[in-house]
Amino acid sequence: MDMEPDDVALDDSFEIDTTVAHPARRYNYWLGGKDNFEADRASGDAWEEIYPTVKLAALENRRFLERAVTFLVKEAGIRQFLDIGAGIPSANTVHEVAQSIAPETRVVYVDNDPIVLAHARRLLSTNTPGGVTAYIHADVRDPAAILDNPDLRATLDLSRPVALMVVAVMHFVESADNPYECISTLAGALAPGSHLAMSHGTTEFLPAEQRAKFEQWVEQEERTRNRDPYRSRTEAEFAQFFEGMELVPPGIVALPDWRSELPPAERTSAADASGYCAVARIL
Ligand SMILES: C[S@@+](CC[C@H](N)C(=O)[O-])C[C@H]1O[C@@H](n2cnc3c(N)ncnc32)[C@H](O)[C@@H]1O
Repeated sequence: MDMEPDDVALDDSFEIDTTVAHPARRYNYWLGGKDNFEADRASGDAWEEIYPTVKLAALENRRFLERAVTFLVKEAGIRQFLDIGAGIPSANTVHEVAQSIAPETRVVYVDNDPIVLAHARRLLSTNTPGGVTAYIHADVRDPAAILDNPDLRATLDLSRPVALMVVAVMHFVESADNPYECISTLAGALAPGSHLAMSHGTTEFLPAEQRAKFEQWVEQEERTRNRDPYRSRTEAEFAQFFEGMELVPPGIVALPDWRSELPPAERTSAADASGYCAVARIL
């Protein structure tokens, strides 16, 4: 007997679970978006209570992303992007920024959250001559599934340079899930001249007392309320993602400091943004 559509079991990974906070939806809340649920807002507010500048930190992360894409297109000559952990589309997505400079830029977005899949149409709307975007529902912890995906192969030419963007994502990947191996497998599949752009949350810039309080809170609260709890990494741990690559100046810095157009005195402080970032050339 033929199966009717209603009999087809849905894959759990495509169902939107509103009972626990999800990073994509909480980040959307911090950025002032509407694509979030009560659990995301409660988690976001709890974060803000313990770390009052979290919304500014999210904004600084977006600003880094835009500066990095601009640098990659304008100065490194990149015309292909693989953006993993793309997030719910907000203003100035990777393809909007890149294609405003080089209309022919091709972008593959990846995320493992069903809410991002639900909004993928917005990521796919491109109308610049030669510009193309694609969306893949996949997990950074499974690099082979990303690299072997036919949509990636149809959109990007892996014999030419690609910018691998992993922005504000790896702090949701536990050490037990081999985060360094995931990134080195992805980077290893890319042609010489490709680049890796990353940012990552850290507690290292916080005064000792606030840092201890925040870390204790993460252990007790954050870990129980979220699909993917946050974990901070140190500068030395962040640097390991770039092993064997050539860091682009200024190297690893606090989010507000990467090629900022603002004089140092006018930038958000490192403690208020609490993230490291860098761009590196893959050799
Ligand atoms: C804080 S948002 C960052 C969004 C965007 N990259 C930016 O910087 O504006 C983190 C994103 O990473 C995604 N994410 C978290 N863990 C992931 C995983 N294991 N694989 C793929 N995406 C993941 C989340 O769903 C979310 O969309």
